[in-house]
Amino acid sequence: MKKILLLGSGELGKEFVISAQRLGCEIIACDSYSNAPAMQVADESKVFDMLDAKKLRRVVEEVKPDFIVPEIEAIRTEELLRLEEMGFNIIPCARAVNLTMNRDEIRNRATSLGIKTAKYKYAEDIDELASSVDYVGLPCIVKPVMSSSGKGQTKIFNKKDIEKSWVEASSGMRGDRTKVIVEEFINFKSEITLLTVRQKNRDTIFCPPIGHKQIEGDYVESWQPTNIHEKLLKDAKNISKIITDDLGGYGIYGVEFFVLENEVIFSELSPRPHDTGMVTMYTQNLNEFDLHLRAMLGLPIPNILMLRKGYSIVIKTGNDFPKNSSYKINGVNKALELNNIDIRIFGKEKAWPGRRLGVILCSDKDNGEAAKRFINVVKK
Ligand SMILES: Nc1ncnc2c1ncn2[C@@H]1O[C@H](COP(=O)(O)OP(=O)(O)OP(=O)(O)O)[C@@H](O)[C@H]1O
Ligand SMILES: [Mg+2]
Repeated sequence: MKKILLLGSGELGKEFVISAQRLGCEIIACDSYSNAPAMQVADESKVFDMLDAKKLRRVVEEVKPDFIVPEIEAIRTEELLRLEEMGFNIIPCARAVNLTMNRDEIRNRATSLGIKTAKYKYAEDIDELASSVDYVGLPCIVKPVMSSSGKGQTKIFNKKDIEKSWVEASSGMRGDRTKVIVEEFINFKSEITLLTVRQKNRDTIFCPPIGHKQIEGDYVESWQPTNIHEKLLKDAKNISKIITDDLGGYGIYGVEFFVLENEVIFSELSPRPHDTGMVTMYTQNLNEFDLHLRAMLGLPIPNILMLRKGYSIVIKTGNDFPKNSSYKINGVNKALELNNIDIRIFGKEKAWPGRRLGVILCSDKDNGEAAKRFINVVKK
């Protein structure tokens, strides 16, 4: 039986644990708070600050896992590089986890591989931000180099927004670096995630493309398959292959692209299952968590089959939801009365503004929106 140390115990981790247990693995789920979603289904759990290198090493040495699977970005990834050198197996590999934790490092890597991205520049203080905005042009997007789910991200339309944007980015930053990336705003037709599976001694394979919609930099809906011209899909696959081959290791990558009329532009990637990929729980023979697990264990994946088309809509609190409060999700039974609806409640104990608490998995947008109308998150 393989022992897996899961670093990060959110909703994606929870589904990964379920997939792993189904194939007989033992999982120790970690996070900075107790009873996190993945901990509720894991064999064991550990609560500690994963940004603390010493604590991280201590837990790894104590557990002696066969595999270390990072589920979030807020991990002391430099320590993972050292642990990998000591012989521990990091999924997909420590370098991929380390580079993707920092938007600047993965962006520099993409550029050096000749992959086209939005025009960009970095800034480490407000004056540099102003000159970067001049360089990139308006409108543009400002993001902390270390953040996720749109935290600290703003769109600048006008130079007078610069100060507000800096303040917003500084408060949304994670880690110890005060640095932002300023990106040209891409007026895309759509966005896709291309789930890309790197396997040992087998070809890299892809899931059918997933379309998604983001509000304030955070995913709210995704669907699979999405309509994209064959040539553009081929380009996206080529780019995904180039960058995932460069990063290496085994497992699933979520590669994000902006889709324009005649081209796809690489945006970023996750070296793990992707939040927009939760729709695969509804659509595929093997969902993104099953695929991640099989690829890392070196198990065969003879085919990825889409069994039916699907849609996902997140259940999250509004921006005015009270901070750190207990909550109740109303209307689930009503929503489930509709045909072709499945709901995953993540089991997070507390809610705050904009916290994702569940997802509706369903056949299409109309169906999902009908279900969503019944759902209501209230403070308890
Ligand atoms: N240069 C850009 N032009 C247009 N839209 C953008 C740009 N950069 C980001 N966005 C929008 O913001 C969303 C989130 O950005 P990005 O994926 O870089 O951040 P994130 O915080 O890492 O999100 P996540 O980790 O949840 O994927 C994108 O999916 C897109 O909708
Ligand atoms: Mg993203």
